[in-house]
Amino acid sequence: MPLVTVDHPLAAHLLAELRDRNTPPTEFRYLAHQLTIILALEATRELATRDITVETPLEPTAARALAMPIAVVPILRAGLGMLEPFTTLFPDVAVGYIGLERNEETAAAREYYVKVPDLRGKVSFCVDPMLATGGSAAHAVTVMKTKGAENIRMVCVVAAPEGVTALLAAHPDVTIFTAALDRGLNERKYILPGLGDFGDRLFATP
Ligand code: PRP
Ligand code: URA
Repeated sequence: MPLVTVDHPLAAHLLAELRDRNTPPTEFRYLAHQLTIILALEATRELATRDITVETPLEPTAARALAMPIAVVPILRAGLGMLEPFTTLFPDVAVGYIGLERNEETAAAREYYVKVPDLRGKVSFCVDPMLATGGSAAHAVTVMKTKGAENIRMVCVVAAPEGVTALLAAHPDVTIFTAALDRGLNERKYILPGLGDFGDRLFATP
């Protein structure tokens, strides 16, 4: 299952509000946070667990605990809007950062910051709301692999078919989770219908 389109009524509702050009930044941040909770739960559905025993106030019982450590790596800037749901749901998560910026003419991603922990033995989540050409995500996954990541999931809000194809061509081992698979890209490599520039809307920058 290299591509999972998350199908949940609340996810659809939140995404509709994110797409709305009249949604202001304060609300946009809240919506991104809420939608990422749903995406994070879907993307972690298959996490391995190990059998444990716990003592309830009444008796011992069989239970399950998460078996593997996880890591989350937001792509700056826009991925920051998806970080907190992961740290809230998984307080022990390790966090790395990869700063990438698309060239406005060519849409090629330029790396300006990398701070990523050792990802060996972890389930790693790369988070970036927009998978457009796929250049940023493919670059980030390459960086994560140099840090030892083997089990990588890409979590985004909106994906374009071009980005899905490019990311899976570069990294066929990655599974992509998205709230929507949109129609395609315009001549400036923005997703259609998309929701505009996620980073600008999240951080209220023109
Ligand atoms: C946006 C977005 C992704 C990238 C997707 O970042 O957040 O990182 O574009 O495009 P791609 O799939 O074609 O690479 P942007 O470069 O606008 O930087 P920002 O997050 O700092 O706004
Ligand atoms: N980055 C965005 O923020 N939006 C797009 O549509 C494409 C890249």
